[in-house]
Amino acid sequence: MATTTLDVGVLQRAAKDHLWLHFTRMAGFETQDVPIIVRGEGCYLEDANGKRYLDALAGLFSVNIGYSFGEEIGQAALEQMRELPFYTNWSYAHPRAIELAAEVASLAPGDLNRVFFCSGGSEAVESAWKLARQYYRARGSRTIESALAEPETRHDELRAALAGSQPRYKVIARHIAYHGTTLGALSINGIPALRTPFEPLVPEVRHVSNTNRYHRPPEETEEEFTRFLLDELEQAILALGPETVCMVHMEPVQNAGGAFTPPEGYWRGVRELCDRYDILLSADEVITGFGRLGYWFGSERYDIRPDLITSAKGLSSSYAAIGAVIATDRVMEPFLHDTSMFSHGITFGGHPVMCAIALKNIEIMKREGIIEHVRANEDAFRRTLAQLLDLPIVGDLRGTGYFYAIELVKDKDTRETFSDEECEKLLRGYLSNALYDAGLICRADDRGDPVIQISPPLVAGQAEFDEIAGILGDVLAEASMRMR
Ligand SMILES: Cc1ncc(COP(=O)(O)O)c(C=O)c1O
Repeated sequence: MATTTLDVGVLQRAAKDHLWLHFTRMAGFETQDVPIIVRGEGCYLEDANGKRYLDALAGLFSVNIGYSFGEEIGQAALEQMRELPFYTNWSYAHPRAIELAAEVASLAPGDLNRVFFCSGGSEAVESAWKLARQYYRARGSRTIESALAEPETRHDELRAALAGSQPRYKVIARHIAYHGTTLGALSINGIPALRTPFEPLVPEVRHVSNTNRYHRPPEETEEEFTRFLLDELEQAILALGPETVCMVHMEPVQNAGGAFTPPEGYWRGVRELCDRYDILLSADEVITGFGRLGYWFGSERYDIRPDLITSAKGLSSSYAAIGAVIATDRVMEPFLHDTSMFSHGITFGGHPVMCAIALKNIEIMKREGIIEHVRANEDAFRRTLAQLLDLPIVGDLRGTGYFYAIELVKDKDTRETFSDEECEKLLRGYLSNALYDAGLICRADDRGDPVIQISPPLVAGQAEFDEIAGILGDVLAEASMRMR
């Protein structure tokens, strides 16, 4: 049934009585309406009352092609429904999963040639951790099997090495980073407020500093900052015991905390440390993949050379529930012998309709020149947002491509941030509602220091940039006054 034929009051009642919203204080709906979005076009959404919003968050950093391709993508889904509505990737293949795997492998940098499908970002992160854990066991037993076939002289030595060998299972991630909500992915998160209600979590994750430069000593050079971060990462590896760490998992540009870009030399150094201690480097590209930074993958933008990439959101521009782990030939290698297999699977992983939608999304992205569009417009986007730096409450503008955050500060000179109580008043007491009322969807977030995250569909142009900056300017000017 088309939503327009439904009574808005009936929808409101049913939403309040039956729907459980994610990460939402449901008590608020005793006095307020549930925001109900009924339609999308380009970068715009419309709610059940007919009010329009500019979606400067692209859904959840994810509707990369915008909202206007439902007809075309729906046709691809319909054709797939007719041909084969479902079949599994457990022991079987089907054409759309094969084609999508080949397409993703061709877009991914280097020899990231192997694609394992799942249903979203959390599952991708969960799967990457499981893969990293099993990779060392699979590789270890391969090494020992082939070595045991050697002359008997080394037999006892190898058996002893096998008996004494520890499983590698630990992960290193970064403070304030968000990586999903399933227990494994949640454990990798560096946001205490999300972790605490569910502890004890999956062992064992250590968090190191993210690349937030704004709150480092102002006299520190970029080179010194990189050195500090890499030294700290190495210390964490050594403290955990390098032989027990299976994965370093980080986003090319970290979202939570506000679009932290890496300092010069950072990724080169992280890669070197992972090589030195034989640890898999996993790039969480759930947001940065598929164009957000002006490249198919952020790993290409920063020459990260990861062993694993986790992907979801932009893979289908969120027209489908699909994610993926992309692995290098080296990671795949121990799983290609004898009885070895990755002991992991999900019913909907590689769902043919989801794959057909993702394939169509990539076709549209290529045809419409989405990556080129982001590259051609990213400077103009930054310039437009930079006007907001004139406001007393705006301390920093960070990001790249179509992925930005502005940090809100109490005192611009000292970079002093707001207290928890002030954040509550500023973000939830004023900004979130004021932006929404003014017709702009973006996220006021205080998982780290308070920021506004701006991440529009990748089809946005100067008109949308101006509207974003205009509404933000008015609302933030008012916020400055209120917080004085
Ligand atoms: C970097 C990153 N990883 C993982 C996830 C989890 O993805 P999902 O919500 O699809 O499970 C997210 C979601 O926002 C994310 O931003």
